[in-house]
Amino acid sequence: MTVPAGTAVTLESGGRSGDVAVALRGAAVTLGGQTVFSNVDLEVRRGEFVAVLGPNGAGKSTLMRTILGLVPLSAGSVRVLGHEPSETRSEIGYLPQRRSFDSETRIRGVDLVRLGLEGGRWGLPLAVTAGARARRRIERERVEEVISLAGAAAYATRPIGELSGGEQQRLLIAQALVRRPAVLILDEPLDSLDLPNQAIVAALVQRVCAVQGVAVLLVAHDVNPLLGYLDRVIYLAGGKALAGPVQEVITGPKLSELYGARIEVLRTSDGRLVVVGSPEAPHHHGHRH
Ligand SMILES: Nc1ncnc2c1ncn2[C@@H]1O[C@H](COP(=O)(O)OP(=O)(O)OP(=O)(O)O)[C@@H](O)[C@H]1O
Ligand SMILES: [Mg+2]
Repeated sequence: MTVPAGTAVTLESGGRSGDVAVALRGAAVTLGGQTVFSNVDLEVRRGEFVAVLGPNGAGKSTLMRTILGLVPLSAGSVRVLGHEPSETRSEIGYLPQRRSFDSETRIRGVDLVRLGLEGGRWGLPLAVTAGARARRRIERERVEEVISLAGAAAYATRPIGELSGGEQQRLLIAQALVRRPAVLILDEPLDSLDLPNQAIVAALVQRVCAVQGVAVLLVAHDVNPLLGYLDRVIYLAGGKALAGPVQEVITGPKLSELYGARIEVLRTSDGRLVVVGSPEAPHHHGHRH
């Protein structure tokens, strides 16, 4: 299949339309007079784990921010659970890119996770039907549940500033999950994690997808730690997007079309994908920033 310039091709998985959590149609974003991307068509279903890949500046974070309703579209539409993003903000768990805590940060992990409950709709029916004490108990149980799901119980009561990057990351994922979101957006959650922790976080995210039926969009620079966990990828480059299964999207011909340059994709004997021919191919961590 060829990809005409300026066109996004979506290879959608099967499923009922009622399962669609995030849908973009002909979406375009212009920032500072420049088109970041255009003609993006995309569907992510409940329980689906989608990785968002592409070089620096391709528009991955911008795409996530349009789904959150933080960046307006210049063309096309975006729907989250069938509504405008601004109407469904409380249904989305969000981990923004590049967060870190000063070593002096004294707030405990468990309190950080609890902050995720604030401002959300979760617990509101309880506020009506149950007393404040019952609500606090249920909230405490919910916080404990996500901390345990994230595998962070052992250090959740320590000050967050004392924890390692990987430990902080798991608590932040727990925070993004505490309101039981239908959609989870994680912008480079594997950033600065070592390989074992990348695998742990990838497995954790897949578990959240499977157990809670959450639609996950995870931005990453390297697809390799996610292989074996994800369902599909969205590849952004050259102002266009291509979505589909890894083996259909991360191929020499498809990426060459997207980048408008000759790209080769090699598969190592242990199954890792190596994208060659682009200075910012997604497996190169060393070129960032
Ligand atoms: N507020 C803004 N005004 C103007 N241009 C912007 C703004 N925000 C982002 N951009 C530009 O939009 C493009 C996409 O940025 P974005 O942060 O979405 O890229 P990214 O794919 O997430 O990159 P990275 O891998 O470095 O995180 C970049 O060229 C960036 O400079
Ligand atoms: Mg980004």
